[in-house]
Amino acid sequence: MIDTNQLDIEEKIKKIPHLLKYMGSKREILDFVTDSVGSLNVQSEWLCDLFSGTGVVGGTFKDEYKVHANDVQSYASVLSHTYLLNLKGQLTIDCLDEIKNKVNTLVSDYYNRFQKLNFNYDDINTFKKLQKIEKAQQALISEDFDIGFHLFTKYYSGTYWSYDQCVWIDSIRAVAEQYKSKPQYYPILSSLIFAMSYVSQSTGHYAQYRDVTEDNMKDILSYRNRDIWVYFERKFIELIKNVNGKSQDFRVTTLDYVDCLRIIEEDSIVYSDPPYQSVHYSRFYHAIETLVKYDYPNISFKGRYRDDRHQSPFCKKTTVKQAFSLMFEGVNIKKSHLALSYSDTGMIDLDTIINISKNSLKGYTNDILTKNHTHSKMGRSDEKNQEVKEYIILFKRN
Ligand SMILES: C[S@@+](CC[C@H](N)C(=O)[O-])C[C@H]1O[C@@H](n2cnc3c(N)ncnc32)[C@H](O)[C@@H]1O
Repeated sequence: MIDTNQLDIEEKIKKIPHLLKYMGSKREILDFVTDSVGSLNVQSEWLCDLFSGTGVVGGTFKDEYKVHANDVQSYASVLSHTYLLNLKGQLTIDCLDEIKNKVNTLVSDYYNRFQKLNFNYDDINTFKKLQKIEKAQQALISEDFDIGFHLFTKYYSGTYWSYDQCVWIDSIRAVAEQYKSKPQYYPILSSLIFAMSYVSQSTGHYAQYRDVTEDNMKDILSYRNRDIWVYFERKFIELIKNVNGKSQDFRVTTLDYVDCLRIIEEDSIVYSDPPYQSVHYSRFYHAIETLVKYDYPNISFKGRYRDDRHQSPFCKKTTVKQAFSLMFEGVNIKKSHLALSYSDTGMIDLDTIINISKNSLKGYTNDILTKNHTHSKMGRSDEKNQEVKEYIILFKRN
């Protein structure tokens, strides 16, 4: 027998194309999330995706609710806009051709202006040669570039990306800026975020790029030979086919969750998926935050992180309880319902969370739903799979 529920969720997932490999993304368990929120069985008009990350949860609910997507990171706002915007008729192959022409012009101009910078991987057949060409690119961090839109070329050549890949990243980013007040801005940046993650030689995020060794040399070369434009174009075409629809009212904010909870609509459903572990998202995804802000930040450490990285209270043992407490208070004040995702590998256990909730969520029932899930390797073999129990705790206001 055909499972209509399963078909339904597959149809929905198709409409929210994969944009970013993301730690803790709910993409693979969207059916668990939608079924759980559905079982709240309430008539709210608005759903707030309080820690939206990739935006897939808000995107899945956009036909049923007015969605308010929030996350403290700017790249999350770009991804949510891409799923939630009304892009009907705005994304077309003609538009892609126009972007391509503009990008090609900027790339040619860049190469003309910096003819002495020539890093050709074609003849690299020894470890020493590869190491030398990578180090020479990394040294560009101390150069002055007298051309606009050179952030990635200066900061990241020879690290996560090669010099040539950085020239393309900077050029596509420059073209995105030309669409800043138009709806195409978000799909352009989202497609670039996708391309950057599949071309980068690091392990699925930007906490560290890999130093070249004799063992990984072949693998690193295979990433250096990837073409940013090919990945960009493939994703943009997928977006043309899938996100080009109408949307109802929505809102996207880049706020701390405490601020966000003060401005949500009363009687909302709040879907809350805070960080579970001690790793800060701002360290793993600093490079795409910089892509969006494009603000030539001060950077430090080998991973070349932005200095102004956000530190989440959910990631520290000393602040996590208070962080949950403020979340429960905010939900209660707005007379809203809450679906809270967490896992058995989290900073605090389920009993502690329920106990904290009792201080503010009076007159609420709670129900705990569980799903076994394998957290993926983020795409590479040097990160381990992890078996976890995913929870959704439903707090329903009576
Ligand atoms: C587990 S991830 C969310 C994943 C998301 N549900 C998805 O499916 O892609 C947690 C998110 O919380 C965000 N975050 C961390 N601290 C925050 C804070 N204080 N306020 C708002 N967002 C925060 C992070 O940037 C990260 O995107």
